[in-house]
Amino acid sequence: MDKIVINGGNALNGQVRINGAKNSALKLMAAALLSDAPITLTNMPDLADTRFMAHLLAHLGVDVSRENGTQMRLHAKALAAPFAPYDLVRKMRATFNVLGPLLARQGHARVSLPGGCAIGARPVDLHLKALEAMGVQIDLQEGYAVANAPKGLQGAQINFPFVSVGATEHALLAAVLAKGETVLENAAREPEITDLANCLNAMGAKVTGAGSATITIKGVSSLAGATHRVVPDRIEAGTYALAVAATGGDVLIENCDPAHLGALWDRMRAIDSGVEHVDAQTVRIIQKNDRCAAADVETQAYPGFPTDLQAQFMAVMCRANGASIIRETIFENRFMHAPELSRLGADITVHGREAIVRGMPTLHGAPIMATDLRASVSLVIAALSAKGQSEVNRVYHLDRGFEGLERKLSALGADIKRVRET
Ligand code: EPZ
Repeated sequence: MDKIVINGGNALNGQVRINGAKNSALKLMAAALLSDAPITLTNMPDLADTRFMAHLLAHLGVDVSRENGTQMRLHAKALAAPFAPYDLVRKMRATFNVLGPLLARQGHARVSLPGGCAIGARPVDLHLKALEAMGVQIDLQEGYAVANAPKGLQGAQINFPFVSVGATEHALLAAVLAKGETVLENAAREPEITDLANCLNAMGAKVTGAGSATITIKGVSSLAGATHRVVPDRIEAGTYALAVAATGGDVLIENCDPAHLGALWDRMRAIDSGVEHVDAQTVRIIQKNDRCAAADVETQAYPGFPTDLQAQFMAVMCRANGASIIRETIFENRFMHAPELSRLGADITVHGREAIVRGMPTLHGAPIMATDLRASVSLVIAALSAKGQSEVNRVYHLDRGFEGLERKLSALGADIKRVRET
């Protein structure tokens, strides 16, 4: 298994280019199932998760090819049997979102219930209820959702009891080809939702209101092909911004959309990090003080502070000048990085969904273990700001969501390398 070896203490300086968003790319790939014409996605990240999704789509009969590095072509001309087996779904929750498009295209499907990062129970009840409201009969049999839409998908009024990114996207993916109008209330407002709606509209769908809490979809009978650019990855951009806050330095973060990270910039200003909006695609982070100030944070659905940046923020707080309270409201078990950060000398106490981080003047290098995707990168950030050498084990988690992490950090001046072990 590979590991990452980091000698901490270097400031980060220079420019870093952000890739397309993993969490958008995965749902855009699922959207390709809705049309028999080709979909071309540009600004596509090349990650373990996108490769895994490509594998599942190929199994479902989609012709998937990578073109010139950052472009992916998906052509679902004729689909195979609508069966998504456990082995191709268990590793990643986003794969479950093929169920709606398969039902829309083929009227029936059998899809394994999903796996994903171990950050909480993460059921799919809201996904299933939304599909049932659209006329789908679903039986849960031996870990599979066995679904049939005998009269085709029907437009429906769907009120989500709480905000779910995946359920909003899933309902959207199913409703575009349903008969009649669907209205989603209390929909998620994440930029990835808007990105999916824009792609679907480019394919001929009639979606309005994406980015607000009410999304209206007028079903159409078929969708065409389209070319769509994947929205920049706000979580990758935020991760580099927080890495600079931890290590000090001056970095231009390019090819991102700073407007998608308002809640992060607010917190970064609260900890005395310099955030300069250069233009619509570029933000500059300047960290002059060796230690940031401490500030509290609470995760919320968009436009609140993203849960996918909570671990990275905690890594920064480990060396802050003071104590901070970090409250996780989206997932019930998303502090697995806390004990690992403690190995580097951090002082963290977790009580349920709240962590108290007392900033230390220095952290020291140590062997640490990655647990989930965002937790792993928080360990990298802490190790970059620690004195001495750290080894991050189980780095396959990082490969799920950060393309070229060591290359990008090395180019900024970090002493980081991947050691391949057989
Ligand atoms: C998406 O997960 C992202 N994943 C997550 O990123 C992200 O943390 C999360 O949204 C919140 O922003 C992808 O887009 C692939 P939810 P998702 O449905 O859609 C509960 C990463 O690191 N819930 O908004 O699964 C759920 O358990 C990943 O890139 C139900 O109870 O998140 C959670 O507590 C991790 N029933 C809350 O809702 C349901 O049917 C929000 O989950 C669905 C969700």
